[in-house]
Amino acid sequence: MRTVALLVVICGAFIGVELNNPCVQCQNDQTCRPPDCFCCRDELHFPIPIEDTPQIVFFTFDDALTDAASKFYRKLFNESRMNPNGCPISMTLFISHQDTIYRNVNDFYKRGMEIASHSVTHSHMSTSNFMEEAKKQKSNLAKLGGVPENEIVGWRSPFLEPIGDMQPEKLKELGYVYDATLTYSKRKLTDKAPTPFTLDFGWPYDCKVKPCPKRRHQGFWEVPVVSLMDYKHKYDCVYVDGCNNPPPNEPSAYQFLMDNFNSYYTTSRVPFGINMHSSWFYIADRLNAMDRFINTLLKMNDVYIVSVDKTIKWLQNPTPLSELHAFEPWKCDNLKARQKADQSRTNNRQSTDLSRAEMQQMYIQQRLRQIEEMRREIELKKQRELQLLQQESNFVNRAWWSPPRRPNNNIHRSPFTQEISNAHVLENTLEETAAEPVKAEKLIATKSTRI
Ligand SMILES: *[C@@H]1O[C@H](CO)[C@@H](O)[C@H](O)[C@H]1NC(C)=O
Ligand SMILES: [Zn+2]
Repeated sequence: MRTVALLVVICGAFIGVELNNPCVQCQNDQTCRPPDCFCCRDELHFPIPIEDTPQIVFFTFDDALTDAASKFYRKLFNESRMNPNGCPISMTLFISHQDTIYRNVNDFYKRGMEIASHSVTHSHMSTSNFMEEAKKQKSNLAKLGGVPENEIVGWRSPFLEPIGDMQPEKLKELGYVYDATLTYSKRKLTDKAPTPFTLDFGWPYDCKVKPCPKRRHQGFWEVPVVSLMDYKHKYDCVYVDGCNNPPPNEPSAYQFLMDNFNSYYTTSRVPFGINMHSSWFYIADRLNAMDRFINTLLKMNDVYIVSVDKTIKWLQNPTPLSELHAFEPWKCDNLKARQKADQSRTNNRQSTDLSRAEMQQMYIQQRLRQIEEMRREIELKKQRELQLLQQESNFVNRAWWSPPRRPNNNIHRSPFTQEISNAHVLENTLEETAAEPVKAEKLIATKSTRI
């Protein structure tokens, strides 16, 4: 009898958890409707059949917009590359101030790219510096880059470190529409990704980097940074350039991108985000793989490569493929106006070719910044592994009838192998090897202490 009573209590507790889930609450809340409110959920529930849902792919590139980085972006986002509606493909640049060449900002803006903020100093955000950084960088991009302030609507914090509720609050106050800082981990390729949503019910997922917003921020968008699976489908990577198993050559890099793309395209058609830094392209195989990947997408008439702000416009007004040609926010008539508006800006500036020494210096600066981001990621993974271990030991200690809560597919995820194979990441871009991380472990463990 006592066992039965206990079971009832436990089941009740579990149902309670389910009912309190913010995403479920939101979906039951009849007032949450686009364009002002969009629930968190792992698939789109629009009255549009999957075949008539466009697969949106959004690219985001972080950090200073240097001349070196711009060369890669100009190649990949060549103005002759068009979406099925006849408009050029677009991307989002999260730009930090230091080392940015603002001529490039203006140039990409005029080509229809989205210009967004990534702080002035690229330092760690806190409740004391956040407001100033978010305000100042918006005005830098406007004044120095010639981008209208009302078109700078996106923010991403350095190192993907949020500062809690103050972040959406202040961003909203400053006229930003969305944040793209919070991370979401896919454990397997087949895991569904969340769609960008409004924080009407706070951040409803696991908080990977604390503190996440807990309160409601009505109508303010969060575009989660959803991890990819590496080319071996083994570990997840927050950034394309942050994989434990970096692809060793062009075919594997291409396959890595295609596999991740297909995990969206062939299933839910949730918008697919490719978040990265330009330093990945210093290895020619990777640049070529990305080039080929984009070419493949361009041949598909149900795939659109658009910036994050355009992705949000679509979510606010979900339009089927068959009507997308007339979808106003994705039209490009305004591009000519952008180009004419400040022709004078560029006329009196010459494009300068970089010397080898300048290229090297920029490369080193970028690498240092990237290494710090990687360190942050290693820290995160360690925390996650610890949580997993704790969950596992809870599972072992639990009575036989309690509901299993062991996460799938984590047998290979020991904190020790994780840490070492992550150290491999720090080395791999400079010194490409196709060696198995296991074999390289000892060598790298000693090397990485010197970075
Ligand atoms: C863009 O594409 C055109 C036509 O294919 C080509 O001539 C041009 O060199 C490309 N520009 C860049 C920067 O790659
Ligand atoms: Zn950054």
